[in-house]
Amino acid sequence: MAEFVKVADVSEVPDPGKTLVEVDGEMVALFHVDGQWHAIDDVCTHDGGPLADGELRNHTISCPRHGAKFDVRTGAALTMPAVRPTRAHDVKVEGTAVFVRLRTEPGSTGPTAHSLPMRATGTAGTATLPIAAGGAIPTTAPSASGQPLGEDAVRELLKEVKDPELFVNIVDLGLIYGVTLAPAADAAGKQHVAIDMTMTSPACPAGPQLIGDTKRVLGGHPEVSAVEVRIVMDPPWTPDRMTEAARDQLGIF
Ligand code: FES
Repeated sequence: MAEFVKVADVSEVPDPGKTLVEVDGEMVALFHVDGQWHAIDDVCTHDGGPLADGELRNHTISCPRHGAKFDVRTGAALTMPAVRPTRAHDVKVEGTAVFVRLRTEPGSTGPTAHSLPMRATGTAGTATLPIAAGGAIPTTAPSASGQPLGEDAVRELLKEVKDPELFVNIVDLGLIYGVTLAPAADAAGKQHVAIDMTMTSPACPAGPQLIGDTKRVLGGHPEVSAVEVRIVMDPPWTPDRMTEAARDQLGIF
């Protein structure tokens, strides 16, 4: 087991306050709140944001990159776009010295510490969607039933598009605000499809991939002549827009 390492003097961190310390070569965010000391990894589990640079309110730290919130006492991820806890560490105070001991496991099994598939490895924000080789996404053909392509069929098709970190489709995540179909002016019998889509956060790194996959999925349908994706941030996305299926998949109850 790791040893406690002295990281600060109590006088160096106000209450409430935070600072960045190094423990055994790892960067740790140290918090002083209501007379208690807490330590978590200086790493947001969404996309590696530096938590010690975030805003501290009571026992919640907000990632400065896309706004995910974590409980500084447990490391639990409290809000999207983070869904996995960050590691919490042991802290003790002796005299005026503050010590931290690294833990090896994520610190929380709290209510939002979901057991999720790890994000795909690779460059941040460019995780690969599990689609067929060559980029082709298998599409069902709603018009095979004889019905013209309608909003419900478009939404079914959009379930092929999945958030690369959460592995939940964009329809069940509640990212689709609107579907508009209009006869294509330049292609008889075909339709122009416009999608109003939001993101879980304004700077969602998966945005370009979700837009591209949406265009590929819908553009591959024989009745579609063009696909337009409009990003809408008002009203902002909130977790309560997720369907029951998405909540089950993410382990949110
Ligand atoms: S890196 Fe922290 S919310 Fe995205």
